[in-house]
Amino acid sequence: MKSRQEILASLNLDIPVVASPMFIVSRQQLVIECCKNGILGTFPALNNRTTEGFEEWVIEIKKTLAEEEARLGKKLPPYGVNLIVHKTNPRVMPDLEVIVRQQVPLVITSLGAVKDVVDAVHSYGGLVFHDVTNTYHAQKAIDAGCDGLILITAGAGGHAGTLNPMPFVTEIRKMWDGVILLGGAISTGNDIAACLQMGADLCYMGTRFINTQEAMADEGYKKMIIDSGTREIIYTASVSGIPANWMVGSLEAAGITKDMWDQKAKADFGAEHEAKAWKNLWSAGQGVATIHDNPPAAELIATLKKGMLTAMQEQKDRLAVYA
Ligand SMILES: Cc1cc2nc3c(=O)[nH]c(=O)nc-3n(C[C@H](O)[C@H](O)[C@H](O)COP(=O)(O)O)c2cc1C
Repeated sequence: MKSRQEILASLNLDIPVVASPMFIVSRQQLVIECCKNGILGTFPALNNRTTEGFEEWVIEIKKTLAEEEARLGKKLPPYGVNLIVHKTNPRVMPDLEVIVRQQVPLVITSLGAVKDVVDAVHSYGGLVFHDVTNTYHAQKAIDAGCDGLILITAGAGGHAGTLNPMPFVTEIRKMWDGVILLGGAISTGNDIAACLQMGADLCYMGTRFINTQEAMADEGYKKMIIDSGTREIIYTASVSGIPANWMVGSLEAAGITKDMWDQKAKADFGAEHEAKAWKNLWSAGQGVATIHDNPPAAELIATLKKGMLTAMQEQKDRLAVYA
């Protein structure tokens, strides 16, 4: 197994950011723009309605990035694919076959950390990162041989956790020396610097990338993000059966009112069922509070880098006061 340092060096990142996979939202253009601009771009296999279509997207991404690498004469960050490993997702095996055939460099597994999946990806030299919301599932992912743990904390978009990132990162670091990604309401360069300070190796950013020109999100969705603060986000299992953060305005528009937020829907990760749930019901994390625009991904990434470097410099300047 590769060491943490080896894995981080192999990612060719300009800033320590992974644009996380988002159902309905992340498409191949966003992934390509992310990788071209120095961060790791990802998308859920289920974002294409068929396994054949998914494979076409992978081929397009591979081809475009290879051409760009040849043009620039340097390696770009790899791309990643998200596989929902759950018994209700009938595409796990066919999509995994595509992943192995196309040698997808990074696979992000959610819900199930399964050794057979990890072994299949390792067989061609790929990496597996797995998202977790507590130490129990983190240990299972470590036991399955995953290369990176994605800590999904309170306030994240999608199926968020409930833990505060500060103790969670420290607790996981005590358990293992592998790559730690931190996810949950990270929207600015300042946030990225803060995550590194907490002990994370990489930042896992979702909601911030909904508001990019290349994201597949509805204009109304993007506007609602710009107009929202933390009070407009509600954590409830009433939509997909697993607690997730949703935009209150979209739930209300669909008739899911406050009195229903305590109920738990039945979980079903079949593409058709999920698409119905997520098309008009919009998920976003508490990071909406600091999102005020909808730039091209390239511009956003440049702004994030500038903000991160400024935050690091400011931290250094504080030494004059406190050292
Ligand atoms: C609209 C939306 C859709 C998402 N879909 C998926 C998905 O299909 N698979 C997955 O692993 N995570 C999914 N997530 C979770 C993100 O990958 C990531 O964990 C989260 O966005 C990080 O928190 P942040 O949104 O506060 O940055 C989704 C998140 C959002 C906001």
